[in-house]
Amino acid sequence: MNKKFYITTPIYYVNARPHIGHAYTTIACDTVARRQRLLGADTFFLTGTDEHGQKIERAAQAAGKTPQEFTDEVSAQFRALWNRMGITYDDYIRTTEERHKKRVQELFRRIRDNGHIYKGTYTGQYCVFDELYVDVVGPGAPCPECGRPTETVKEENYFFKLSLFQDKLLQLYTEQPDFIRPETRRNEVMSFVRSGLRDLSISRSTFSWGIPVPDDPKHVIYVWLDALANYITAIGYGSSHKGAQEAFQKYWPADLQMIGKEIVRFHCVYWPAFLMAAELPLPKSIMAHGWLLFEESKMSKSRGNIVRTETILDVLGADALRYFLLREVVFGQDGSFSFDALVQRYNADLANGLGNLASRTLTMITRYFRGEVPYPSAAVPQKGGDSAIAENARKVIAEYSTLFDQYQFSRALEVAWGLVAAVDKYIVENEPWALGEKQDEESRSRLGTILYTSAEALRIVTALAHPVIPDATSKIWAQLGLGDIRKFPLSDLKWGQLQLGTKLGNIEPVFPRADKSAIERMQKMEDQQRSAASPAEGQPGAPAQAPAVLPVATTAAVATPAAKPAAPAPDGKISIDDFAKVELRVGQVKAAEKVKGADKLLRLEVDLGTEVRQVVAGIAESYAPELLIGRKVVIVANLAPRKLRGLESNGMIVAASPEGGKAVLASFLEDVPVGTRLK
Ligand code: MSP
Repeated sequence: MNKKFYITTPIYYVNARPHIGHAYTTIACDTVARRQRLLGADTFFLTGTDEHGQKIERAAQAAGKTPQEFTDEVSAQFRALWNRMGITYDDYIRTTEERHKKRVQELFRRIRDNGHIYKGTYTGQYCVFDELYVDVVGPGAPCPECGRPTETVKEENYFFKLSLFQDKLLQLYTEQPDFIRPETRRNEVMSFVRSGLRDLSISRSTFSWGIPVPDDPKHVIYVWLDALANYITAIGYGSSHKGAQEAFQKYWPADLQMIGKEIVRFHCVYWPAFLMAAELPLPKSIMAHGWLLFEESKMSKSRGNIVRTETILDVLGADALRYFLLREVVFGQDGSFSFDALVQRYNADLANGLGNLASRTLTMITRYFRGEVPYPSAAVPQKGGDSAIAENARKVIAEYSTLFDQYQFSRALEVAWGLVAAVDKYIVENEPWALGEKQDEESRSRLGTILYTSAEALRIVTALAHPVIPDATSKIWAQLGLGDIRKFPLSDLKWGQLQLGTKLGNIEPVFPRADKSAIERMQKMEDQQRSAASPAEGQPGAPAQAPAVLPVATTAAVATPAAKPAAPAPDGKISIDDFAKVELRVGQVKAAEKVKGADKLLRLEVDLGTEVRQVVAGIAESYAPELLIGRKVVIVANLAPRKLRGLESNGMIVAASPEGGKAVLASFLEDVPVGTRLK
């Protein structure tokens, strides 16, 4: 019997339209699902939308719609986008569907019957943006996760005995190290759990947009319990139908649950605890990827820095986006998106790389061998270069598979494209076009060997890359005369399978080169979208400026990424008066420490001569706090105070942030008195 493979994306909130941050997770899952199918696994790929809770209720209100109308609309937008991108999901769950609601109630009942739910009163702060109970004190206190003001909640609730599961969870993380990936996230979760778990409120009674608690409909079930349950309700948990029950037996537990790093706690602490309480098996692995950044901060609707997927689909197509995201971003870490980088990668790796190799090789086979694959001739001895390509390809197959199965997409693609580069070099060195002009036996044989070797390497890269760039590889496969690539059993892939005499299909370019105008076009499309976006699309409760933007300036500039420039001149320049508004001063660091729970932030006390200021800076990944004590730095001294992780930051430290590199603090070669103004 075939191995099964069940993979899930998070279900996306419908308070805002999809952007490439959502597409990133979905693409990664789609790629894994496609590979599993090619490997012969009975694969089930689930995605969907998360539609209950206060945040959605308020977004609907802001849009002047009923929650149901609103969620229907946005959920359909997500689905339409995935369809347009050819995402191969097997089911699309909406938490407002009847099947889900009933089954969540069943899960609630089961946990309650097992004695893990009790009634109590919750008094404390709640972050509507994160739909999270937070441990901060006082009305309006900032959420430690996102910095937005929290709301005070005092209501009778049902509680889940989370505290009971602390030891079991720690045992799980220890015994099943792959339960949370990557390692950094696992360590974070372990220290969070070790620091102690409190019981969790799992119902709300002050609004009604949710699933009623069984036997007590004044309460609705906490939106995260409702949402997390989708992973089992979609495949039949809690159903009385035999078919659904069988599907659940077959597919659960999930083999891989892919999430973004900001929802690790929900998935790696609450979710397994709920499952343990219901005596259900736990997922095999939860993989948290990093964030897609745009203009230095997390791409999100509330920051107004999103890029829509449709723009890229219109100009370069889905394969370009898929390849870029998986090749450019080290999976697990944050990565920046820019149109420039996208087009550069597209041209270098796809148009000039794989696309060029395909068209060169296939065109020469058409021209010199009437479109039939030649075979390396036994009559003419092979050269070192020929066997080196074969050897290289064998190694690539093995390495690519290992890396891919560890979700190191970027390294895997780098390895495969190493073969593309090697074949390119091989073609240039062997000049098949020169041999093609000759008719003698030896030249023809040699030409056959070179073109066979190139075509076989092309076939291997095409098969390996198929899950990542399905459209283009399907075309190349058909051009190679091999039919439907989805039917190819990837586990059998090896060198030498391309058959003599295979008749090529119609040769057409797969990746037309993109010129500079592609960047301008995409930029323009996004600018138009942003200016046309209606305010109702914004997220309710979101502050006008992103509070969590790290106060590290880009390329030694002084504005925060989210700050709007003060009416720039038409050529983008500012006047000296504009510059004079920024008060830059020399400061000296007196104290420095890491901010708890924020791996990028340091809390600094900086002496400005006349006063000592607290500044919270996003430089923890670049500087150990102890190395900063006594160091002279440049501070934007007249920046309005803002709160980061609940700490007030009074000013900004100036640093250069090279693309993909670490922040470097601005400093002086000569000694300068503390407090001196820079102008
Ligand atoms: N509804 C919850 C998840 C419930 S799962 C039971 C939620 N939804 S969300 O719409 O905010 O989507 C979050 C997910 O979208 C992230 O975990 C990540 O997978 C993806 N991303 C959204 N923005 C992203 C980036 N800027 N970068 C990377 N991934 C991003 O949280």
